[in-house]
Amino acid sequence: MKNFISTAEWSQSELQMILDHANQFKQGASSDCLNGKSVALLFFNPSLRTRTSFELGAWQMGGHAVVLEPGKNAWPIEFEAGTIMDGNAEEHVAEVAQVLSRYVDMICIRAFPKFENWQEDRLDKAIHSFAKYASVPVINMETITHPCQELANMQAIQSLIGKPQNKKYLLTWTYHPKPLNTAVANSSLLISTKFGMDVTLLCPNADYHLDPRYMEAASKQAQENGGSFNVTYDIEEAYSGADIVYAKSWGALPYFGNWQAEKTIRDQYKHFIVDEKKMALTNNGQFSHCLPLRRNIKATDGVLDSDYCFAIDEAENRLHVQKAIMAKLIG
Ligand code: CP
Repeated sequence: MKNFISTAEWSQSELQMILDHANQFKQGASSDCLNGKSVALLFFNPSLRTRTSFELGAWQMGGHAVVLEPGKNAWPIEFEAGTIMDGNAEEHVAEVAQVLSRYVDMICIRAFPKFENWQEDRLDKAIHSFAKYASVPVINMETITHPCQELANMQAIQSLIGKPQNKKYLLTWTYHPKPLNTAVANSSLLISTKFGMDVTLLCPNADYHLDPRYMEAASKQAQENGGSFNVTYDIEEAYSGADIVYAKSWGALPYFGNWQAEKTIRDQYKHFIVDEKKMALTNNGQFSHCLPLRRNIKATDGVLDSDYCFAIDEAENRLHVQKAIMAKLIG
């Protein structure tokens, strides 16, 4: 039984097969491979795209999705092993995962970090606990990575520029008034280096480096796949000649639990907004973002409304890639 928790556990050719199937779905192919099957979607955090596309994707393939929000319409869940459960949680993931496995054929989890202690959050306990106790495949709907978003991004890139090998991919940090999850940024590095792109990470300073696990994976994958990976704090250098510009905001890891101190730093970097002037430095570059996005904070109206913005296409692709992932795991 295989899970879909991180693309790091999947080869480029396995991912390409999922992307090829997603392209068939996009071109109108149908499948009833979930006929009589069901999937549990557990949301510990809000969602628009992920919930809609998973629920519809399951239904379009003949299956049924049950949406649960632990702590809201379902019991709060404990993830610590061996703990005395005298807090808010009413049941342990050991029971939740085993019970759901008796009812459904796949379990999908969205569980963001708590943003208090990165050393704790980086363990990604929620999804790994489900994977440990479940006897059905587990899919990551965004924890500290967002692999479904990765595939939607790569599907769009391939349709826009063909083979991504050695095309210049820029992941730029952008300003946002709140510290956000690093998941999409981690994922952006994983998928672009997996497909041999020449990848640049642009961020304000070393505090905004991503977790070493993902920086090291990016370097290793770039080497394995004939691409490259470098980090810069220089905006002009980063945008120059880029084929793809991918934007995301995230909180600085050394400031987890100390966000007031980080805010005074982050507020100095509002000029990292993606605008037409920066995009003019690129190689007729295409722009995207995972959404949701605050207009004229992360990117200007001019960029979002341009012909080179493919964020809506990427969002559509979520539906196609997730159908392909579910079809693969239910296989
Ligand atoms: N990109 C993304 O996952 O969107 P939602 O948070 O709306 O699901």
